[in-house]
Amino acid sequence: MSHSPALKQTPDTPDFIVIDPHKAMLASSLEKIKVQGGTQLNGVIPISGAKNAALKHMCAAMLTGDPVQFTNMPVYLKDIQTLAALMKEIGVAMTLRSDGTMFINASKIHSTEAPYDLVRRMRASVLVMGPLLGRFGEATVSLPGGCTIGSRPIDLHLDGFRAMGAEIILEDGYVRAKAPVGGLRGAKIMFPKVSVGATENVMMAATLAKGETILMNAAREPEIIDQGEALIKMGAKISGLGTPEIRIEGVSALHGMTHDVLPDRIETGTFMIGVALTGGTVRLQHTRTDFLTSLIGPLQKAGVTIEEDGADVIVHRNGKPLVGTDIMTEPYPGFATDLQAQFMTMLTMCNGAGMVTETIFENRFMHVPELRRMGADIAVQGNSAIVRGVTKLKGAEVMATDLRASVSLILAGLVADGETTVDRIYHLDRGYENLVGKLEACGATIERLSSGLHEE
Ligand code: UD1
Repeated sequence: MSHSPALKQTPDTPDFIVIDPHKAMLASSLEKIKVQGGTQLNGVIPISGAKNAALKHMCAAMLTGDPVQFTNMPVYLKDIQTLAALMKEIGVAMTLRSDGTMFINASKIHSTEAPYDLVRRMRASVLVMGPLLGRFGEATVSLPGGCTIGSRPIDLHLDGFRAMGAEIILEDGYVRAKAPVGGLRGAKIMFPKVSVGATENVMMAATLAKGETILMNAAREPEIIDQGEALIKMGAKISGLGTPEIRIEGVSALHGMTHDVLPDRIETGTFMIGVALTGGTVRLQHTRTDFLTSLIGPLQKAGVTIEEDGADVIVHRNGKPLVGTDIMTEPYPGFATDLQAQFMTMLTMCNGAGMVTETIFENRFMHVPELRRMGADIAVQGNSAIVRGVTKLKGAEVMATDLRASVSLILAGLVADGETTVDRIYHLDRGYENLVGKLEACGATIERLSSGLHEE
């Protein structure tokens, strides 16, 4: 029985076509962004729905055969389209509309295998495992990102499934998970390390398990709360969201619902840092400040004014120089690792020095050599970087290496003398909707250049 009469069917005439993620990657990996530094940001920027919640909502929709609808989905992001392509391939009906509405109907899933070709493009694809295992008792997923369990492991996800009785086999680059006869069983799971993905994956699987699952040392990110709230609307019994202990009482089936995705706090924070760097006043529409307190504190300390106005946030900095301040990345509510590169760019232009310590991911200082090419003074020692403010950055040709590193270079370009060209912008398209258009609307001189090469 459908619990959402307004959603009896998935519309079959999409007005937004999921583009082929292979072609999209090829195309945008050949494109560049050119930024002319020196203009303040002034204007209005609409904030998109949170990528890191949207991806998990799409996976969770596979826990039911009923139609599910989401609004405020960042449908133009390549990561969203990659996951949509993966889900379509295994039989999920998907409609992505240009107004950010997404319809998902997983009543006709014909395969529980997520193929290498799509998973390797996006590590988050591994999040299909929990829902498929929970609902169908089996899931086969290629190891993500082409890497082995080791450098970017998924051991915490797999240990969680094992604790619920699943048998896990690793062969030929694939992880095969099989639930015991009778389905997954509730379990008490203590994560040795806080993991966003493992918390979400196991929470999804547990919604349909027999009995109670208790997740201890769970991640507390706002996106997990948003996902949990959507699951509760689907009929899941979950308590403790936003705390380190989440309890899930398994139910026999979930049903359809509609859900509005929370705003993207990383996109919000990125634009806050942008205004801090350039000066000016920008109204960020449809977002919040409560999920960014770990960024707002240091920004205020550096000299930025941030105030809420209804559903908008106004960010302002006058001409006064920024003051260097220290940050350390930590699981939420600590400083987000996804804002570390952007904050480091801001420190390059501060009076004095600031120290950045990265505790979540190894090798997340890939933006440092590129920022140095623009004249930044950064010394790295292990997982810490001392950034000494310089009076100016100089435009250069730089290369995007990952999603957040890429945007940090765009931000640097906004304040650098002369022209900055950022190459390999595929990464940006994964996680920022219409970045060029949003910055342009606030006065930035920025454009997207085609490489001049064309696909056959
Ligand atoms: C999510 C976010 C990513 C963000 C990160 C940390 C999505 C799609 N991505 O990634 O943008 O940077 O949270 O806030 O939501 N780890 C293990 N074993 C595991 C899983 C993780 O050792 O099984 C380690 C990781 O290597 C990392 C740390 O735990 O060092 C945190 O990773 P995790 O929180 O799982 O990040 P993701 O969910 O992959």
